[in-house]
Amino acid sequence: MLIRILGAAAGGGFPQWNCNCRNCSDVRAGKRGFRARTQCSLAVSANGVDWVLLNTAPDLRQQINETPELGARPEGELRNSPIKAAVLTGGDVDFIAGLLNLRELQPFTVYGSSRVLATLAANSVFNVLDASVVPRRELPLGSPLTIEGAGRPTGLVIEAFAVPGKIALYLESSAPSDNYGSREGDAIGLKVSAPETGKHFFYVPGCATVDDDLRDRLAGAPLVFFDGTLYTDDEMIRQGLMQKTGQRMGHISISGPDGSIAAFEKLGVARRIYVHINNSNPVLDDNSPERRATEAAGWEVGYDGMEIRL
Ligand code: MLT
Ligand code: MN
Ligand code: ZN
Repeated sequence: MLIRILGAAAGGGFPQWNCNCRNCSDVRAGKRGFRARTQCSLAVSANGVDWVLLNTAPDLRQQINETPELGARPEGELRNSPIKAAVLTGGDVDFIAGLLNLRELQPFTVYGSSRVLATLAANSVFNVLDASVVPRRELPLGSPLTIEGAGRPTGLVIEAFAVPGKIALYLESSAPSDNYGSREGDAIGLKVSAPETGKHFFYVPGCATVDDDLRDRLAGAPLVFFDGTLYTDDEMIRQGLMQKTGQRMGHISISGPDGSIAAFEKLGVARRIYVHINNSNPVLDDNSPERRATEAAGWEVGYDGMEIRL
């Protein structure tokens, strides 16, 4: 199985277009130790030919153009694409807006939870993906599904499962006691398997807390890509960027007693990689103490173009 991080940043990307925070201004200035990142997406292939996208970021056009494996094949038909399916883990803008880049009547399949498919159905702009060419299929929660695209199996099986999290920002209700209207299926994780080789990994780009169910699923996993939005829960408030904590946004932090480093400590996950990293996060500075602490804890900080072969 081939895995490639197309984008490792959270919504807004790194740098974010209107942000003059320390990190954003340093990466914009080309300071040593800083590397720009596009918004959160990953591509995976069982056979090295057909690819499945895990989330479709607004930056998808750029990501495809920077990834030769994802471009139209010179030996192929006049219109062709190795992208056979897109699997969505939530309705966030950074997860779904990239679908709009995939118009042009190219067959592939879109997979999402019933909640995410309802969001696509309610937003008519997504009808640029003609359903007779680009079918939408429901990802059941808790049962593995063979992923197909353009009428062919991709060699991948994906099991979606609900994780603690939140409905997309633009769909929030005003009821904090109801987790802003969040329901099961608004935040999901994926177990991605290639039955032919028996390899698998997990992709969990948005997650509010590691509960017992998630702990049981991830224990002993060979590879997990995980929500690395913030280093500390109040970092956006402290930096004067926004009056919201990570918990309010449905994101666990990296550090602290309730953070992901602590939660994974005894899980025996062989390889742990942060993705969906917000531009405020100090781990984006290769030389920061927070980056050193994260790596010392056995985690890697994902970057665009990072490739893994399982
Ligand atoms: C998030 O990950 O919390 C969202 O992408 C935030 C947003 O939609 O701006
Ligand atoms: Mn996001
Ligand atoms: Zn910033």
